[in-house]
Amino acid sequence: MRADARDPASATLFARRARCGAGSVPLQFHLSFCPGVVCARFIFPCPGQGSPETDEPPLGQELNFRAIGPTAAIRRDRRRILGGSRAHRAVAPHVRFAPHLRDAAFGMNTCYPDRKKGQRVMEANKAQADYWTSPAGLKWIEHEHALDTAMAGMLGMMLDTADISSTDRIIDIGCGTGASTLEAARRVPTGKVLGVDISEPLLARAARRAKAEGMQNASFLLADAQTHDFSAQPFDLLVSRLGMSFFSDTVAALKNLSNSLSDGGAMIFVCWASVGMNPWFEIPKQAAEERLGPQPKGDPTAPGPTAFQDCDRVAELMVRAGVSNIEARPVDVVLTPPGGVAGAARAASKVGPAARIMKAYDGTKADEDAIEGAVRDAFEEFAAGDVARVPAVVNLFSCSR
Ligand SMILES: C[S@@+](CC[C@H](N)C(=O)[O-])C[C@H]1O[C@@H](n2cnc3c(N)ncnc32)[C@H](O)[C@@H]1O
Repeated sequence: MRADARDPASATLFARRARCGAGSVPLQFHLSFCPGVVCARFIFPCPGQGSPETDEPPLGQELNFRAIGPTAAIRRDRRRILGGSRAHRAVAPHVRFAPHLRDAAFGMNTCYPDRKKGQRVMEANKAQADYWTSPAGLKWIEHEHALDTAMAGMLGMMLDTADISSTDRIIDIGCGTGASTLEAARRVPTGKVLGVDISEPLLARAARRAKAEGMQNASFLLADAQTHDFSAQPFDLLVSRLGMSFFSDTVAALKNLSNSLSDGGAMIFVCWASVGMNPWFEIPKQAAEERLGPQPKGDPTAPGPTAFQDCDRVAELMVRAGVSNIEARPVDVVLTPPGGVAGAARAASKVGPAARIMKAYDGTKADEDAIEGAVRDAFEEFAAGDVARVPAVVNLFSCSR
């Protein structure tokens, strides 16, 4: 037994060895106490997959249990790397799930790194982790149907171009609420898809959707894609719809993600072209600026939705990351949000530049309504009968390891 030096109120026990799979491997059992809380953590290392004593990413299996307060409700965070064994289920089949984890973890292979380690790992992109769990980021849940419907064509174009085979193992970066992960999983009935995101609430929503669809080959991982080590389970294909332009260090992220690919593995991802080429952004931006004031000036290459607007710049970053067969080109797509022009105006005003201007000026409900009204008027030109068809341009990037 050893006291944890960082937390005098806790103690950590190390068990010796346990049988796991075919051989004898060290099983670690950590128990920590502080008033009212008992945490137990079991780690089942799999030979050759690193060590929990270092900063390396998780091993094969990990279970966390926490008993809190007089009711001793038990929280179990199940953590699992794609393809791991089912041995851990025997440990405590009776555990209750904390309500916020129940849907995400139950029945799906959803990984939630423990808090302390998670926070450390997320530091490279903490600003993004904060943004995508803030009310502004959570609008992607509130307006999920509108956004997914609007961007279905963009997703289809990217996946069609990827030339997916039914057995592919795919990783989906910045999967958000999971539309792209689910669509990719439908296209690989005998393959697997791992959706990765830095936002726990968005990821929990994605896992709920997968569960509701009974999707067995989609898993989710809460991680910073820039720094998390995915190399233990190589993927045939990396895809991302609008999730690659938020890294604090794009070259480091591309290098890291390239290591997640098998030999000959490929990446294909779409990101927005400039605001000026996208009325979906430009019109709400103008409306918000007229109402509230100019958008605060920023570096156009800073992490954000349009950071990859310049194909040549991103191709150069890809060269520096050491990937090959690089292609980068703009592609015309059409956004088809539900609810006609009014629905399009509602969705376009709630995310993107208008939302960021609203946030910068602390806009009120009256401002929001006025901006949406102005966008609705301007979007009339995209009306096609009952539907709105908003022309858009995205940049399509591809490369191989
Ligand atoms: C514009 S949203 C796109 C979401 C989703 N791909 C879609 O099309 O609906 C960008 C997503 O990237 C995620 N993200 C940003 N930085 C990330 C990082 N470093 N690692 C993993 N995910 C990240 C955000 O949490 C967010 O869900």
